[in-house]
Amino acid sequence: AETHHLHWEVSYMFASPDCQEKLVMAINGQFPGPTIHAKAGDTVVVELKNSLPTEGVVIHWHGIKQIGTPWADGTALISQCPIKPDETFVYKFQADKAGTYFYHGHYGMQRAAGLYGLLIVDVKEGEKEKIKYDGEINMLLSDWYHQDIYTQMVGLSSKPFRWIGEPQSLLINGGGQFNCSLATNQGINKCNMENMQCAPMVLQVLPNKTYRLRIISTTSLSSLNLAIGNHKMTIVEADGNYVDPFTVDDMDIYSGESYSALITTDQHVSSNHWISVGVRGRQPKTPPALAILSYLNNNSQYQLELPKATPPITPLWNDYAHSKSFSYKILAAKDTPKPPKRADRLIQLLNTQNKIDGFIKWSLNNVSMVLPPTPYLGSLRYSLKGAFDQKKPRDWFGANYNVMKPPINPNTTTGSNLYEIKFNSTVDIILQNANALAENVSEIHPWHLHGHDFWVLGYGEGLFRKKDVSRFNLKNAPLRNTAVIFPYGWTAIRFVADNPGVWAFHCHIEPHLHMGMGVILAEGIELVKEIPKDAISCGKTAKMLMNNHG
Ligand code: C2O
Ligand code: CU
Repeated sequence: AETHHLHWEVSYMFASPDCQEKLVMAINGQFPGPTIHAKAGDTVVVELKNSLPTEGVVIHWHGIKQIGTPWADGTALISQCPIKPDETFVYKFQADKAGTYFYHGHYGMQRAAGLYGLLIVDVKEGEKEKIKYDGEINMLLSDWYHQDIYTQMVGLSSKPFRWIGEPQSLLINGGGQFNCSLATNQGINKCNMENMQCAPMVLQVLPNKTYRLRIISTTSLSSLNLAIGNHKMTIVEADGNYVDPFTVDDMDIYSGESYSALITTDQHVSSNHWISVGVRGRQPKTPPALAILSYLNNNSQYQLELPKATPPITPLWNDYAHSKSFSYKILAAKDTPKPPKRADRLIQLLNTQNKIDGFIKWSLNNVSMVLPPTPYLGSLRYSLKGAFDQKKPRDWFGANYNVMKPPINPNTTTGSNLYEIKFNSTVDIILQNANALAENVSEIHPWHLHGHDFWVLGYGEGLFRKKDVSRFNLKNAPLRNTAVIFPYGWTAIRFVADNPGVWAFHCHIEPHLHMGMGVILAEGIELVKEIPKDAISCGKTAKMLMNNHG
């Protein structure tokens, strides 16, 4: 196995991803950040220098389990202290499993400022990739706001509440078109096409080949759907796990998810085709993102004109039946490990929107997450007292909650408490969706677990009942690190707590996480090795280090 040694510097720069200039967070002057390519079993070392003038930064490696290196998970105030301006922190971890991953900022809403990039892990040296294909194309999807994240963060925690609204554009590999007509069929072909900087990306392909599209979503808010004119997609991988292949005309992708889809270039040589990415689950006020799949012609040139056909129209934003049917099709490939037969613990998390003194929050079993000033990993490992709320959070929200109606008592409390999970135990979590504060509103939330893959055992409508356990899929439940809950429904996941560390489990929608939509899990802390000092040089752990040397 190899070691990849990277020197990265995070800084602001001016960029115009959708032809409107804005400050973005860049790595080594690039937006999106550089793509990391590794093989399973390789070690990745990133020396990250913070060159932001006045704020801390961290980077999370989304989908990497960090077995034995929980301090490299890159979650500010959970796994490490934010890296101070002008300081350097060394992330060193193993790319444990082949698959499609990404990395992103995990402090405040820095991901939404553009701090992200791809992390592609190929199969081990000498091993054969199970999927057969001739070429690879990466599509990193994001949504883009013209308002800066500081205005957004302050607005979200203001009274009256200021919602961030819908994004101005959708980006593919950091480029998109803004200010286009929403009327998909007319106008859009010409939208901003004259400006090369934000013209649709052209994906060049050879005829009669199979391509592996790696599709990753790091959106701040939007759930997306992707369709390619005249081409079907066969889904073969989800979140770094092979799935039982199935073929679709269009696919949904939620923030925090990644997929591989195979396409066959079986259309005419010298033809080209639109790829559209549209918004799901919220009334779209954002024009679709476009890319062009361009075939090489017989004169060894790529088609330069715009495709003649209109871009494919992604399904209606509120066609939830369509979204569910896509999610339900995702099942494990044959040799995927099966979930343990039963769980040792059941945690039911009620997802509600609430209020504290008129400030709007999201909470789980009536607790809205706030992070303590000392990262949990250090304070737990070194048994420091009073570093966070000691009250145990609840495993259940109680009987008689009507998930179909706004909360009767919308008041919530903030909390920095955590779920202590017995090492090596098997845990079921039921994510229970409910009505938000307004009548007849229940939203999609993509939940992401750090440090583990989990099995998605099933989905259901309305309130989860104990008897639903009998419907769990123990046969071919897919392994994932992100799973969605649909409006007014529940999603059941199972995982084995076999990775010593402190792990975030949260909604991957950036403003929701900022409003408290997450919980913290801790397992096997006594097995965590000596934490690098740079990860704990703040809060109570900094004092501890000073006393040890005093
Ligand atoms: Cu990609 Cu905690 O997130
Ligand atoms: Cu959410």
